[in-house]
Amino acid sequence: MTKLLAFAGSTRSGSYNQAILDVAVEGAREAGAEVTQINLSDYAMPIFNQDEEAQYGLPERAQAFKHLLMEHDGFLIASPEYNSSYPALLKNAIDWASRQSGDEKPLAAYRGKVAGIMSASAGALGGMRVLTVLRMLLENIGVMVLPTQKAVARVNTLLDDAGKLDDDATVRQLKALGEETARLASKLKAG
Ligand SMILES: Cc1cc2nc3c(=O)[nH]c(=O)nc-3n(C[C@H](O)[C@H](O)[C@H](O)COP(=O)(O)O)c2cc1C
Repeated sequence: MTKLLAFAGSTRSGSYNQAILDVAVEGAREAGAEVTQINLSDYAMPIFNQDEEAQYGLPERAQAFKHLLMEHDGFLIASPEYNSSYPALLKNAIDWASRQSGDEKPLAAYRGKVAGIMSASAGALGGMRVLTVLRMLLENIGVMVLPTQKAVARVNTLLDDAGKLDDDATVRQLKALGEETARLASKLKAG
């Protein structure tokens, strides 16, 4: 079965990006993928430091995150836009997991994988600028990022009282992104 790992670049309680990720995950599951959804707060890692890496290797949680990436065929990533780019939380996790250890191939956690990316913001652009730089980052480490992406603008107006996304058109689009990611990952796995 095709396996996708889903995570958001925010650990904020009530995170908008977690809310949109939930919907894409539903879409991927409906398309038959097995989805592991994690919260990066469970993988808290220090800011990458190459001297510490040389001395101690990967911290336990960075290693655990990297293993999860390696075990999955593709990713669903929802990221906030911080000052037009990705949050340090997300970049730091991606950086740690990009490090080679033992007899692994370079970028073993990323190469040949597929990703569906999305963002959410209360602003009018929905954080769409982060998607440009996140796409570039992921593609440069060997991840095939789906041409389809979704930036959810004014997301704060689209949630119900429980913080769940409650807008039919947006739900449809995010589910479709999840489905498309699952299908492409599955085709690549088969081929
Ligand atoms: C340091 C910082 C920079 C931000 N920069 C932007 C930005 O460039 N564009 C934007 O739409 N929102 C920006 N925001 C607002 C975020 O979109 C908002 O905090 C959002 O709730 C973060 O996503 P989350 O709800 O998933 O945590 C910024 C927030 C912070 C903390």
